[in-house]
Amino acid sequence: MRQLTGARLVSGAALLWMACVTFVVAGHAQAPRTVWSGVYSEAQAYRGEKVADKSCIGCHGPRLDGGDSGPKLVGDMFLANWSSQPVSELFDWVVETMPADAPGTLSKEDAAAVLAYILQLNKMPAGREDLPGEHDALSKIEFVVEKP
Ligand code: HEC
Repeated sequence: MRQLTGARLVSGAALLWMACVTFVVAGHAQAPRTVWSGVYSEAQAYRGEKVADKSCIGCHGPRLDGGDSGPKLVGDMFLANWSSQPVSELFDWVVETMPADAPGTLSKEDAAAVLAYILQLNKMPAGREDLPGEHDALSKIEFVVEKP
């Protein structure tokens, strides 16, 4: 049939419109959370500070601001190293390689707490929930340097 009736046109347009809305809504729901979305809690960062004082500052310096045997974990150089990657990359790397004098000794819970502390030191805001100590959940959080 060559002729489209008015009713068909309208229902076709409605379907198209619904497809667009669904696409936009779904797209929005999948917008990535970033380190600026409040992805750790104050309490967790506080626990992380204790872990860092015990296991990290010997090399990375007080407040992880650079020491004799380890780089700064605060500021542009550090942030640039991990920018535009999921936080899981940083997490996995820390769990596998740090502390450099005893790799593999950091529990995932402590690693997440130290990362929370590092985010706090880099002026990223705290939120209500703890940063998860688990690869899959962290892979959904983007490490972004610039504050949005
Ligand atoms: C024995 C010394 C030492 C200790 C202890 C140590 N680190 Fe490191 N860390 C280093 C060195 C050296 C590097 C640089 C290694 C490299 O770039 O490959 C580094 C690099 C890092 C980086 C990457 C820095 C960047 O700019 O990308 C992170 C994150 C990190 N350490 C976290 C930690 C945490 C968290 C702890 C405590 C649980 C810790 N480190 C304990 C020596 C140490």
